[in-house]
Amino acid sequence: MEWLLKLKPDADEALKIAALGHDIERAIKEQKIRRKNYMSYDEFKKAHALNSAKILKEIMTMCNVRKELVDDVFFLVSHHEIGGDKRVDVLKDADSISFFHVNLPYYFVRNGVEETKKRCSWGYKKLPCNLQELAVKFNYKDKKLGQLVMAWIVRKGSGLHS
Ligand SMILES: [Fe+2]
Repeated sequence: MEWLLKLKPDADEALKIAALGHDIERAIKEQKIRRKNYMSYDEFKKAHALNSAKILKEIMTMCNVRKELVDDVFFLVSHHEIGGDKRVDVLKDADSISFFHVNLPYYFVRNGVEETKKRCSWGYKKLPCNLQELAVKFNYKDKKLGQLVMAWIVRKGSGLHS
């Protein structure tokens, strides 16, 4: 939500709900999509996005939210990892930059060097140029992580604007 409003201060209601709930499936242990069950990271992320969209739809329908808003949020959340139009691209960009700003240190602790390297590369490539430039400027408390991120996304190939 914080990054959504930085990128689009006049974000509409559906975008705000989508920003808050886009990863909701991860909070439901029994329904959570597991990486190990998917061949590729893209397939895993697609299933994760669709699962979150379905769960939000169920909750919003149960709460008698009007159908147009439910359908709009469903579309936004089901596409939040890949984008697709101007509105959902803002959600994707906010989510992608938020990973580098907020989640990365925790991801690193949970998943280790190799998995974090792949995740950084994947997330960095999704960012538009202006946010790629921002992503490499974040300071991490864990200096080793900061150095690794710079090595992975700047010096080793992806490079800015790729
Ligand atoms: Fe997600």
